[in-house]
Amino acid sequence: MKSQSLATGLVLAAGLQTASAVGHQHGGQHAHFDKRTSLEQYATTTTTTTSVTDVTTITTTITVTPGVDATTVEVSPTLSPSEPSVPTEASSASLAPVSTNSDAGIVASLTIADALGSSTFPTSTHTSTSTSSTTITRPFSSTTITSSSSLTPNGIKAGSAGGDAYPFWSNHIGWWYDWTPVPLEHYPDNTGTPIPVAMLWGAGTVSHGDALRYHEFLNLTSTPQYILGFEEPDCSPPDSADIASDKGAEVWNEVVAPWKGRGTLLGSPSMCKQSDEDWLTPFEEDITTSWDFTAIHINTISMDVVNKDLDYYWDTYGNRPIWVTEFACVDTSDGFTPSENQTQINQFIADIVDLLQNDDRVYAYAYSSGAGLGDTWPPVKDGELTESGRAYLDAISKYA
Ligand SMILES: *[C@@H]1O[C@H](CO)[C@@H](O)[C@H](O)[C@H]1NC(C)=O
Ligand SMILES: *[C@@H]1O[C@H](CO)[C@@H](O)[C@H](O)[C@H]1NC(C)=O
Repeated sequence: MKSQSLATGLVLAAGLQTASAVGHQHGGQHAHFDKRTSLEQYATTTTTTTSVTDVTTITTTITVTPGVDATTVEVSPTLSPSEPSVPTEASSASLAPVSTNSDAGIVASLTIADALGSSTFPTSTHTSTSTSSTTITRPFSSTTITSSSSLTPNGIKAGSAGGDAYPFWSNHIGWWYDWTPVPLEHYPDNTGTPIPVAMLWGAGTVSHGDALRYHEFLNLTSTPQYILGFEEPDCSPPDSADIASDKGAEVWNEVVAPWKGRGTLLGSPSMCKQSDEDWLTPFEEDITTSWDFTAIHINTISMDVVNKDLDYYWDTYGNRPIWVTEFACVDTSDGFTPSENQTQINQFIADIVDLLQNDDRVYAYAYSSGAGLGDTWPPVKDGELTESGRAYLDAISKYA
């Protein structure tokens, strides 16, 4: 479970009226409006939703009341604070009207921006019935081919999923990532020996944040040593990327696979269903270039499950090197219950680090500092390492 989704809603307040409708977008087409004020009072209230419906196509639907003067329409974004790498204050959205007060609707272009970049949609007429869409595609930039990389970054298996604990762990980890294509852009202070690993989180379809990361991936200018495939495409947003396996294969073939020829080592998409997954096999049948190492997630309280997961992926996917790109102490016997027992967590961390460190099938592993893992597990709180964060530091310090 990770904190990498960004829900976006736009507020369109018409004229001097104060009515607003706030939509929090989860999963593309579905926008839920919380009508804070009775809309009947306001003849000119307009609402807009932005939904991402395709990998490279962003569809903007704007519904306006005929007769609204577009110059008085104010658009302001409401971003969920759930994505640490996208500061909400860095975001903006605006409509640039080119003609106003048309009974046919507003003619305008829409720009949405945040810390990951901005997208401007071409001028179009927005009416209560029209849908404007645009395709954003960017060619690969010229790249430098690096020499082939070791399957264990810097020769150190231990890593960090998330950038927050980096300052405390950096002397003992070989690598880290933050679920985006360019971790260092979001954590500029995390420079040093540990290798920032690039990730293509999703197909750009489930949220505004997903779309931004997708475009950030297309914008990559230098060759990453490693690229991780999709985040849990076998589960639902906002925490997982939710991609059909054939669609995932299409995106992989088009934008991920070409990096292999440039020297990047590719990690498979990671499954949320652990050894119960049924996504990766059909995906593998549809891809033209396969992955170099299998990226897996392990959420459990039991070392038996850790071994079962390792056996499953090792046996099912051709004895390929394994990276455990997220692990956490979670009781999954009945649902998903993160442990709040510090004693149990400390023991779990010591045990899993020893196990992964000593299993030759495992080339890398990472403590997950994603969201949804309870109050005791997060490694950093108020800028300080927690007891759980120290337990990981102690465990990995034995090895590097
Ligand atoms: C991608 O690159 C374009 C062109 O340089 C830029 O305008 C855009 O903001 C970038 N988008 C992201 C998400 O980085
Ligand atoms: C916490 O975990 C430890 C070790 O697994 C166990 O002995 C103890 O009973 C647990 N405490 C609670 C309150 O469940």
